[in-house]
Amino acid sequence: MKISDTIQYVGVYDGDLDLFEGQYHIPAGVSYNSYIILDEKTAIMDSVDARKTGEWLANVEKVLNGKAPDYLVIAHLEPDHSGSIQAIADKYPGMKLVMTVKALSMLPQFVDASLTARAVGVKENETLCLGAHTLKFITAPMVHWPEVMVSYESSEKVLFSADAFGTFGNPETDPWLPEARRYYFNIVGKYGSPVTTLLKKAAALDVAAICPLHGHVLTGELSEYLDKYKIWSSYAPEETGVLVAFGSLHGNTAKAAKLAADMLKEQGAKVTVVDLARDDMAFALAEAFKYDRLVLACSTYDGNFFPKMEDFLLHLKAKAFQKRKVALIENGSWAPMAAKGMKAYLEQMKDIAVCENTVTIKSTLKDENKVQIAALVSELLA
Ligand SMILES: Cc1cc2nc3c(=O)[nH]c(=O)nc-3n(C[C@H](O)[C@H](O)[C@H](O)COP(=O)(O)O)c2cc1C
Ligand SMILES: [Fe+2]
Ligand SMILES: [Fe+2]
Repeated sequence: MKISDTIQYVGVYDGDLDLFEGQYHIPAGVSYNSYIILDEKTAIMDSVDARKTGEWLANVEKVLNGKAPDYLVIAHLEPDHSGSIQAIADKYPGMKLVMTVKALSMLPQFVDASLTARAVGVKENETLCLGAHTLKFITAPMVHWPEVMVSYESSEKVLFSADAFGTFGNPETDPWLPEARRYYFNIVGKYGSPVTTLLKKAAALDVAAICPLHGHVLTGELSEYLDKYKIWSSYAPEETGVLVAFGSLHGNTAKAAKLAADMLKEQGAKVTVVDLARDDMAFALAEAFKYDRLVLACSTYDGNFFPKMEDFLLHLKAKAFQKRKVALIENGSWAPMAAKGMKAYLEQMKDIAVCENTVTIKSTLKDENKVQIAALVSELLA
């Protein structure tokens, strides 16, 4: 990826990590981005995951072309970015480490404590002059760790945005939006308010390019990316539409969910259907946030409800799911309990409007249930 002659990409692509952060499936991999600013003084913008230390050091060495770097700027200490700090510090003993004061206090948790002697803690709006390039440091606490900062390079108008604007996948071949959404809601989503604060700070800057720590370097019309972040961080739906999420033991609830989806589509709604036992939980969560409406269809299970649905609701609650309209379909063979259990979770979320109609199926879908589902669909779309 090309930024400019004096700001170069030295990141690495990880195509065979099974789970990102120990839980997110990334079938198209992920990149750990890193950049070098070449000037009188040379600054490396972040290191990479320990899985790729060797490849990254080789990229860095090639771009440095015999020079030793002056600074390693550290935006974020999570191991996918701090994993190679020790190695590069050992390789270039004259290099200083630049980070927030908060990061400085956490640094010994990730590297040898002796490295603290070479580390400089910077404050909000502090600058570092490299020659023609100047970096301005802007703190971004809780986006999505407390020590995070972004850096703005004023001569080329480049914002090094830490994990914000990041995405899974291969930036060379994959589109930004679908995986950026899945990345945002699962990794950053709980912290909408700190993201809004960062966006306000960024609005005061004249930005030509955004260089995140994962995925694409964003250039050109940046408003499309900024607009998505504004919507996502405010928890507003991105579009009108419905996620139909179901958990079904024997398939009857799945049939009801698919019928609801077909009826919704007939009414012109945009619909995504997810099977919570089979489809990716992180995708389901991101789709729930994308749309303004949600259908939850679930089997009763051991006096409670299907655990995959409970897991989904736990995820939604943990990521501050709010401001949505929800319809419920339950199934049970002798004492249906799923709607009650799902409602108990929804009541713990902010501004969730649950439809008055709840469809209760006793084992298999009957004609009367189809009529009830039609009524539910009408109420949801009203
Ligand atoms: C392990 C297990 C536990 C169940 N527990 C309940 C229950 O507590 N109450 C109930 O009404 N039905 C219970 N059921 C029945 C299912 O809820 C019912 O067969 C199912 O909802 C039908 O829809 P499905 O085909 O989508 O699974 C249970 C079924 C299984 C397999
Ligand atoms: Fe992170
Ligand atoms: Fe990251």
